[in-house]
Amino acid sequence: MLKRDWSQCKALVTGASSGIGEAICKQLAERGATVLATARREERLRALSEQDGLPGRIHYIAGDITSPEHRATLAAWIEREWGALDILINNAGSGAIGRFDEASSDRLRKIMEVDFFASVELTRTCLPLMRAGVHPTILNIGSVLSHVAVPLKSEYCAAKFALRGWAESIRTELASQGIHVLMLSPSTTKSEFFNSLIDTSPDAESKSFGAMSPEDVARAAIRSLERRRRDAILSLGGKALVWCGRLVPGILDRVLRKSATK
Ligand SMILES: NC(=O)c1ccc[n+]([C@@H]2O[C@H](COP(=O)([O-])OP(=O)(O)OC[C@H]3O[C@@H](n4cnc5c(N)ncnc54)[C@H](OP(=O)(O)O)[C@@H]3O)[C@@H](O)[C@H]2O)c1
Repeated sequence: MLKRDWSQCKALVTGASSGIGEAICKQLAERGATVLATARREERLRALSEQDGLPGRIHYIAGDITSPEHRATLAAWIEREWGALDILINNAGSGAIGRFDEASSDRLRKIMEVDFFASVELTRTCLPLMRAGVHPTILNIGSVLSHVAVPLKSEYCAAKFALRGWAESIRTELASQGIHVLMLSPSTTKSEFFNSLIDTSPDAESKSFGAMSPEDVARAAIRSLERRRRDAILSLGGKALVWCGRLVPGILDRVLRKSATK
């Protein structure tokens, strides 16, 4: 268990305007941390930064995380204001539902840009700041679908698998520099995620059993930071799906095949 002095902790959280990112910002500030929140919807970020009664502070800079200029602006602000970064939370993400053979290549590119390249390149930009941080940690928000692929979400599964592969590789590379890398893999979460799916028919439905609240996911994220976990798969259903994929992949394929038919 890592004893972090939250009141001295400086964290950058992407995708902070709703859902899991917003809940993580609030819970970090409740512990006294100072947070830089980012996402595109500025009015949401302003409201988050103006919350009363939090021991910590939430600053914000609005922008598109897929833009290299925006990522550079975040790093420049952190260097000027804090001089170092302790926690980077790569949370911004978007998804889509629909068959691969009916989708444009644009859908895959858009999802890879937000869910994979933006996290990877923001990390690259922030690494010099993290080397100067205290217990520096990169927390990547993956998904159960970083571990097991399901039909009708090929672009999202590809992006989240890629994120996990990259995170596992840099975990061992960065260990000698004292930078910890962890992956949190939530299952379905009640957020605005399914309201902003990319190039998805309005009647497309995501099939899942039960859903966690963003607050529960945020609590698990902070617990994982404190315990220096490597990889945390959330929810019993999520764990069961991942283990089925590992132990009985043929049976799981047969079950999933049924949900792929229109
Ligand atoms: N909801 C689920 O069922 C679920 C399950 C497993 C994993 N996850 C993962 O959890 C993470 C958070 O999702 P959520 O459920 O909290 O959904 P959400 O409420 O839709 O939050 C997504 C966040 O990402 C931001 N974002 C999206 N595109 C962006 C862009 N181009 N530039 C900057 N910010 C961008 C959104 O802000 P703006 O629109 O204001 O830019 C928003 O703050 C994602 O990585 C998602 O893949 C979600």
